[in-house]
Amino acid sequence: MLGWATAFLAEATSFAHVIHSKDRAKEQPAPISVLAKERPIPGDPLIGQRLFNGTIPFQKGGASCMGCHNAGGLGALGGGTLGPDMTRIYKEHGEDEIIAMLSTPSSYPTMKFLYESRPLTPQEQSHLRAFFQAVAEQEPARATIRFSLLALGCVLIFLFSAQLMWRKRLQKVRKPLVEEALKKEAG
Ligand code: HEC
Repeated sequence: MLGWATAFLAEATSFAHVIHSKDRAKEQPAPISVLAKERPIPGDPLIGQRLFNGTIPFQKGGASCMGCHNAGGLGALGGGTLGPDMTRIYKEHGEDEIIAMLSTPSSYPTMKFLYESRPLTPQEQSHLRAFFQAVAEQEPARATIRFSLLALGCVLIFLFSAQLMWRKRLQKVRKPLVEEALKKEAG
């Protein structure tokens, strides 16, 4: 008798739970997709960079992107130039489009044969997105530094060649003067 009552009670409570959770589900329609949209998987730009340049291999064995793409701070040698430069891709396309591109790399004819059977995982896509974002944000500063270095280089080259020319000129003008003075002194 007691066993039956407990079972009934347990049944009733779980039924209440179901009703209650149904009510909650009505209040918040499609909670999972909303959450997924509001909170994309966080990505780490440093891991993204390593995935991009191949220091960390892709889980499913896809080729590193650097073979064909360049992106911002990849050092003096940079990446490949077969594909478009990724430095400004985040600014040009924005968050959602980047994720769409990264989740279907096989929609690009050149990348299809490499990634069709070796897609990037959602986590890898997020790391890459974070990397592209960081690169796009750093780009203006980097461009300024590059420009300043270029300007400094030009100034140094100018000063150096001016110095060379000046020295030659000095010798040309001074030598005869000195010789003349010496001759006069002797004579
Ligand atoms: C075999 C060379 C190659 C490799 C490796 C490669 N790509 Fe590409 N990618 C290309 C080429 C070429 C294009 C231009 C579209 C085309 O011709 O397919 C492109 C296009 C893209 C685009 C679209 C750019 C735009 O403006 O539309 C994105 C994004 C992209 N690649 C990301 C990546 C990422 C991320 C990786 C690494 C997981 C990667 N690619 C690896 C060659 C490559």
